[in-house]
Amino acid sequence: MPKSTPPESQTVQKEIEKLRDEIRRHEYLYYVLNQPEISDYEFDQLMHRLQELERQHPELITPDSPSQRVGGQPAEEFPKVRHALPMLSLDNTYSVEELRDFDRRVRELAGRAKVEYVGELKLDGLSMALTYENGVLTHGVTRGDGEVGEDVTTNVKTIRSVPLKLDARKLALIGNPARFEVRGEVIMTRKAFEQLNAQREAAGEPRFANPRNSAAGSMRQLDPRIVAERKLDMYLYYLQVQAAEPLPEHARVLEMLAKLGFKVNPNWRLCGTFDAMLAYIEEWEKKREKLEYETDGIVFKVNNTRLWDELGTTAKSPRWAVAYKYAPEQASTRVLDIRPQVGRTGTLTPVADLEPVDVSGVTVSHATLHNMDEIERLGVKIGDTVLIQRAGEVIPQVVKVVKSAPDGREFRMPKKCPVCGGEVHRAEGEVAFRCVNAACPARLKESLLYFAGRRAMNIDGLGEALVDQLVDKGIVHDVADLYSLTHERLVNLERMGDKSAQNLLEEIENSKKTELARLIFALGIRFVGERTGQLLAEHFGSLDTLAKASEEELFEVEEVGPRVAEAIREFFGEPRNMKVIEKLRKAGLQFEQKKTRKAEGKLSGKQFVLTGTLPHYSRDEATRLIEEAGGRVIGSVSKKTDYVVAGADPGSKLDKAKSLGVKTIDEAELLKLLK
Ligand code: IVH
Repeated sequence: MPKSTPPESQTVQKEIEKLRDEIRRHEYLYYVLNQPEISDYEFDQLMHRLQELERQHPELITPDSPSQRVGGQPAEEFPKVRHALPMLSLDNTYSVEELRDFDRRVRELAGRAKVEYVGELKLDGLSMALTYENGVLTHGVTRGDGEVGEDVTTNVKTIRSVPLKLDARKLALIGNPARFEVRGEVIMTRKAFEQLNAQREAAGEPRFANPRNSAAGSMRQLDPRIVAERKLDMYLYYLQVQAAEPLPEHARVLEMLAKLGFKVNPNWRLCGTFDAMLAYIEEWEKKREKLEYETDGIVFKVNNTRLWDELGTTAKSPRWAVAYKYAPEQASTRVLDIRPQVGRTGTLTPVADLEPVDVSGVTVSHATLHNMDEIERLGVKIGDTVLIQRAGEVIPQVVKVVKSAPDGREFRMPKKCPVCGGEVHRAEGEVAFRCVNAACPARLKESLLYFAGRRAMNIDGLGEALVDQLVDKGIVHDVADLYSLTHERLVNLERMGDKSAQNLLEEIENSKKTELARLIFALGIRFVGERTGQLLAEHFGSLDTLAKASEEELFEVEEVGPRVAEAIREFFGEPRNMKVIEKLRKAGLQFEQKKTRKAEGKLSGKQFVLTGTLPHYSRDEATRLIEEAGGRVIGSVSKKTDYVVAGADPGSKLDKAKSLGVKTIDEAELLKLLK
């Protein structure tokens, strides 16, 4: 700190540093350990406070501040950087015999030294080297050709599990080096990948083929704001402290990386024998399908790092490590038919009906073809023999055509919806074909199932068979109609007894208490998943405020980018949707967020309304200040309002406050309340 810093600024600096440490700790708990201690709302409050202080004292902003993860202007290009030590790749093995050969070579070269291996999952992403100087992340560089990579630091900083700064205690564990390097794999989870592809399709952009390509493609983005939306993650597996003797065992390295605060894949194992290696391979062959991210094999590394130098490297890869690759979960079969399936948003997705085939223990009889562009890219026709692949729990995909049928029939997207006969449209620039009929039964059925889903309104008992009847018999026309179902209506349906009708009605009644976050999710707004629903509910506090929110107001919500904002505006701009929302309100659903998560403070329980222009604070800043003190800011004045904060050129709200006898204050008085 410079000597001339005034005392007031010193206290601010202290508060800023305290906040940063606290935020770093919560980022670590949330993104690295997956064990948050506070709610997202509370986390956001900390971040807002930090941003506010930094805005008031821009001279105190440092690049390692948690507020600076997404910073700077889009790059023109990425500078090339030479790696201090080349980034090698691995030799692949595909069979137990090849792996045995590797083990034999290692043992021969090791002589009498004891040989153990660390088995690690081989994550399917892109490798990256991170440099820390005095504990601060200064460089993130791609592998490139192994000798020279690209400096993508601005993009790496957006990965929330990557620490921007290590605290002194951690740095001391490795002897306070002025500089050290870690390496690992940047990955995209399967879920983030699916979400990204759905967005791309909606925007008329081509799909990414797999999570690895999308992770790599994201890292090449020149605009860090886009990278931040991509939700990448990074696992570390290598540590190099130039000035120090390496740790004697790789297992210790992994433990040290974790202690330093890096994300380390927890599934590694020390294997003392060849049989233990085989057992590890076998165990993860099935388990890996359930992981959130893709893996394509196992990496074995000699545990004794003193042997690494002795074993040396070949031109491209070390002799002390090897990859065992799992056979891809693929099989070939014949396409019996291709038919369009209508989804919740009206999108017609071509699905291939396949001659049933076994793919690593699972019988597959359908595969998705995604869209017409994909069909063209693959050149697939009905009758062709295709290679299909499944990864994890997702719907199998067609990889390529292996044999074209001489009499193969081309698939054409129908002009009319196969379910309702409505027009099928392909909007300008969009990949997807959509049924334009908002009342299309297929769309309605999908939305009902989505609305009733466990993660949404959780209406147990509203399954496919029932939804089919409710829609086909014209009993239910939108999700809100569920709330006017009667016992009489229900018992007359097939397979519906007295008891189950009663249970269902109870479930529906109970669902009215569902919290706002889930209701927002249940509405099925494009791109609004569970987490976004949560963030929106916490930010706006009521469905009505959300419905009225402008694009700028939506942008204030963390993780809401232009596409999400546009989708939300589109949804609430549609009169049909607003009608449904009115029906839901009448039914008595929770349109307000319970205040359980609000901070306790000076203004707890107090309601504020802002009007006019305040001399020093923008409306958002004032809102933040009030909320941080536990108060609530609402849009309109009522008898329940405690204070109306009026600035220059106040609107009709001031008149209303006067007529209702609500206390009116100015900015200075507000600040006094906050003191
Ligand atoms: S060690 C010299 N460990 O696989 C050793 N690599 O095919 C270099 N990979 O370039 C890497 N998971 O991108 C190592 N647990 C793991 C890995 C891993 C994925 C990638 C990495 C590497 C490639 C080699």
